[in-house]
Amino acid sequence: MINSAYTPPLDLIRRPRRNRQSAAIRALVRETRVHVDDLIQPLFVKDGNGGPEAIGSMPGLERLSVKSLVKEANELVKLGIRAVALFPTIDPVLKDARGKYAVMARNWFFGTIRHLKNEIPELLVVADVALDPYTSHGHDGVLDANSGDVANDETVHILTQYASLLAASGTDIVAPSDMMDGRIGAIRDELDREGFSQTSILAYAAKFASAYYGPFRDAVGSAKSKGVPALDKRTYQLDPANLREALLEARLDEDQGADILMVKPAGLYLDVISAVKAGTTLPVAAYQVSGEYAQIHAAAHAGWLDLEKARDESLLAIKRAGADILLTYFAKDVAKSLKNL
Ligand code: PBG
Repeated sequence: MINSAYTPPLDLIRRPRRNRQSAAIRALVRETRVHVDDLIQPLFVKDGNGGPEAIGSMPGLERLSVKSLVKEANELVKLGIRAVALFPTIDPVLKDARGKYAVMARNWFFGTIRHLKNEIPELLVVADVALDPYTSHGHDGVLDANSGDVANDETVHILTQYASLLAASGTDIVAPSDMMDGRIGAIRDELDREGFSQTSILAYAAKFASAYYGPFRDAVGSAKSKGVPALDKRTYQLDPANLREALLEARLDEDQGADILMVKPAGLYLDVISAVKAGTTLPVAAYQVSGEYAQIHAAAHAGWLDLEKARDESLLAIKRAGADILLTYFAKDVAKSLKNL
């Protein structure tokens, strides 16, 4: 009979648990950390002077008019966040099939950026370059009259003008999210020609046709376009099945002058982040998108996940995969918890 009261010790040289036995040693051996310097906070902005408007599908986030935007940005800066990515919500009456309002000098969004940069010059402003906030059909570009598909070269031409107007308004980093062919090179050329050689390009290099953008489309109102069923962007955004094609896109954007390469979504594409990182010497960003954020919130709301723990683990995983920069709607909350607030 075995005497169950006595277990002889195993003869082990390696006991990995020794390095996990206290909070102090776990901190010493921790390989990956999310730092406030890594974070970019995406923010939704609207015209006018109205108060903040809640966004149903994105708990804790609001559409901000310029005054509340400056207030929010000041709070972020106090928490140590030094970059925001702005997304405009355009009134449907200003939208048309060609997204013409985007490149009008009177576009209020340019004024908002100018104001924000005047108030907080040290804050880095990232602005998306795509036409979806401005088109009545919600696509990222203009449609070809014959095929009905987004017309590549014509869209690129409009986007270069938009990028240049954003730069002229004080945007530090333009972020083409449209996935047209050749847009990075065309935007770099136009920016340089217009005297904005110091304006950076954060390329949405590998942006997948994902189901996880739903809450964002609610937030900017690009989902509710008349006459169009569900938005299908598969002729320009990447097939979620394709890693090698993502690497091709990353290489093209790097060759055309991107300063930072981004993978989007993040949490479901950790292999892509890691492969992009291995193949470039540029900084790599990852965008934890609206659906990833909403999913964690929904499960936490139902009592099924711990919000903070799931949030922190999701971001840690994205960093561990190789992302240097994290675009996340959780940025402010994370910055607070890093400060123990
Ligand atoms: C638009 C754009 C999208 C997002 C960022 N820029 C949506 C889309 O491509 O339809 C998604 C961001 C998110 O879901 O958080 N070009």
